[in-house]
Amino acid sequence: FLVDKGAHKHFMAKEIHEQPEVVGRTLAHYLDMATGRVRLPFETPFDWKDLDRLTISACGTAYIAGLIGKYWFERFARLPVEIDVASEFRYREAPLPRKGLALFISQSGETADTLASLRYAKENGQKILSVVNVPTSSIARESDVVAPTLAGPEIGVASTKAFTCQLTVLACLAVAAGLERGTLSEAEGLRLVTELIAAPGLIAEALKHEHAIEHVARDISKVTDVLYLGRGTSYPMALEGALKLKEISYIHAEAYAAGELKHGPIALIDETMPVIVIAPRDAIYEKTVSNMQEVAARGGRIVLISDEHAAAESGLAGLETVVMPNMGPDFAPIVYAVPVQLLAYYAAVALGKDVDQPRNLAKSVTVE
Ligand code: G6P
Repeated sequence: FLVDKGAHKHFMAKEIHEQPEVVGRTLAHYLDMATGRVRLPFETPFDWKDLDRLTISACGTAYIAGLIGKYWFERFARLPVEIDVASEFRYREAPLPRKGLALFISQSGETADTLASLRYAKENGQKILSVVNVPTSSIARESDVVAPTLAGPEIGVASTKAFTCQLTVLACLAVAAGLERGTLSEAEGLRLVTELIAAPGLIAEALKHEHAIEHVARDISKVTDVLYLGRGTSYPMALEGALKLKEISYIHAEAYAAGELKHGPIALIDETMPVIVIAPRDAIYEKTVSNMQEVAARGGRIVLISDEHAAAESGLAGLETVVMPNMGPDFAPIVYAVPVQLLAYYAAVALGKDVDQPRNLAKSVTVE
């Protein structure tokens, strides 16, 4: 990896564009491409079948990757997941299962709270699995087993390619766990792996919509508040959208689970605040559409991120859309990360902000 910006204006742009390549490289490390099966690049010092629960902890964008991982471990491996931000987990005195497994996610492998949480879990008898991007880091060294993300050096302070690589590794781990625990049939495992193998190509397709996304982002750069909505794995994606926008453009953004709209944020809806709805076509897509109708009925301004037919089928007039490729729903976050990242990037660029070095933020938070 060359640590320069290449043809890009910012490291963040370069890193967003590297995602087809680094996700592909990470997949090749965890899958046997010839047979289409998962092949973890390490021996597990635990048995997936023996686990009653998985504990996940991380900070920032890595925590959001963990939230998405929770949906996958629970769905594919029927493994209950407890997840918390590391700054809470380390002090919460959480009771942990006997012979449990704790999973930590970190790009740098040096985040102070995540490292302290790892030590707490270790002292409390947990086996430690970590998903890290820097193999020589403290978190990697103190883990029983390391699941590397092969994102290469990430320079932009706001994490992008490390995030999609974390999702890729978590997806592979969840499928491996499901096969081991017998909660996924061999055929289901093969189908899921086929979907994963399609991800790099779909990310590349999503990147082709960059100019359209830039156009929407320029509009967003003019407002002071944005609401992100999503259901299922799109709820954590909404959190990531709001986090990215805050981090680099300094626009106030909030994310809600779409079904929570009526429990509060609907009071904020007017014609000035954009509501960005992340809604890949999955089993709960229709539920999100009805939330969108609630927003539209109150004169709200909606930006829908979904596939090309979704806008027409929603029956809502005047909807702004960000078009994503048609794809299976299981691993949508790996592809929908692209518009979420680009919206924040281009909003920040339109406002003339220092995208790679946002004010007050550090790439690696090694102090509490
Ligand atoms: C900082 C960075 C984020 C990152 C978080 C966790 O806040 O600005 O981009 O997600 O730390 O960092 P880690 O290295 O543990 O993934």
